[in-house]
Amino acid sequence: MTGAYITLEGGDGSGKSTQAALLQAWLEAEGRTVVRTREPGGTELGVEIRRLVQHTEGHVAPRAEALLYAADRAHHVATLVRPALERGDVVVQDRYLDSSVAYQGAGRELDGEQIRDLSLWATDGLLPQLTLLLDIDPAAGRERMAGRADAPYDRLEDTGLDFAERVRAAYLGLAEAEPDRFVVVDASGTPDEVHGRVVSHVRAMLDAQR
Ligand code: TYD
Repeated sequence: MTGAYITLEGGDGSGKSTQAALLQAWLEAEGRTVVRTREPGGTELGVEIRRLVQHTEGHVAPRAEALLYAADRAHHVATLVRPALERGDVVVQDRYLDSSVAYQGAGRELDGEQIRDLSLWATDGLLPQLTLLLDIDPAAGRERMAGRADAPYDRLEDTGLDFAERVRAAYLGLAEAEPDRFVVVDASGTPDEVHGRVVSHVRAMLDAQR
């Protein structure tokens, strides 16, 4: 069976990790072997990089931040994602290179093209078959996050709503530019409602692959 690479993208509080878990369960019920992972932090080295980039208090130079995410990605793809795809597994991944383009590009106001090229270099050009953009109004996303008890200090979430608005607009622009890879999923409603939307797109992608 051929592997499939599915990434979930979206702003903070859009429900990516909940949806990734629900999608994994659905795919397994369909008989697929699934590797569920995330960036940053999908590998042991990545956990260290995640800690550095998210929990360093104070200023981290935007280009340094971009390089840390790219380093995490390079190692993650080489040691975990590509081997899984070669085995024929389905990889369900919370965030990938579009996060860098949206957050470091639009959010931190670096050049989005350069950020994308950096990630493509880091991963030797690996792109997902399907990217689910969980789209939510940033204010609603923040409200969801506020209800989460596990949230430690996060340097990136310590940013204003205008940052979140720029990120959202960048994501929607990316989706428009690559309609064959992206689908925009309305992330409002209950987890089950959003899961139903996600499954309809994943089913269509897997059917097309057969
Ligand atoms: P997130 O998936 O929200 O993790 P958690 O739910 O544990 O907070 O991601 C953490 C943050 O990392 C998020 O604010 C976005 C940011 N990020 C980037 O800025 N660039 C990237 O390339 C990636 C992968 C994440």
